[in-house]
Amino acid sequence: MLTVAVLISGTGSNLRALLEAARLPDFPARIVVVGADRDAEGLAHAEEFGIPSFTVPFRAYDDREAWGEELGRRLDGWSPDLIVLSGLMRLLPGSLVARYSPRIVNTHPAYLPEFPGAHGVRDALAAGVEQTGASVIVVDDGIDSGPILAQERIPVMPDDTEETLHERIKPVERRLLIDVVRRIATGELALTH
Ligand code: GAR
Repeated sequence: MLTVAVLISGTGSNLRALLEAARLPDFPARIVVVGADRDAEGLAHAEEFGIPSFTVPFRAYDDREAWGEELGRRLDGWSPDLIVLSGLMRLLPGSLVARYSPRIVNTHPAYLPEFPGAHGVRDALAAGVEQTGASVIVVDDGIDSGPILAQERIPVMPDDTEETLHERIKPVERRLLIDVVRRIATGELALTH
């Protein structure tokens, strides 16, 4: 059974979908802990599912390295086989990425390498593209630049706002993320740098 730690910053709707998938008896992975870089709304989902959680507040540390060191210490306590960044809106320090690489995956609301970074949905809208997408990637030491594990195109509608487009992207992200975790757990998908 693959053990998974999930890191979030926000509402955790993708986390919730993963929690629901992982409680099905035939799902080959289990979420062992949920972590956040702030007092994230999504931590409530962990509580509801009886999964332990922790917060390492970014703002409480002098720099990214110090924050990452504590985050790594907390993660190590659970010895996860895989770390899923599910809306974690912080870059992990290189030392933490190197420690777990390539066993860290990230979901992103765009068709990478298009529109990397913190505003994937907003940037796609601003560029006026007709389609964007959702991606699940391996985290490397760049910004959303790691190997792509799964991705799918999603059309942009003429009257889309950042919110409506993001709400259409998220269900696709969830499906891709659950499938990627399942395939990693079964060995169907091998992670590489
Ligand atoms: C998701 O769309 C995720 O891809 C995005 O944050 C959202 C989190 O939603 N992450 C990034 O943009 C990372 N660059 P959720 O908290 O409702 O799951």
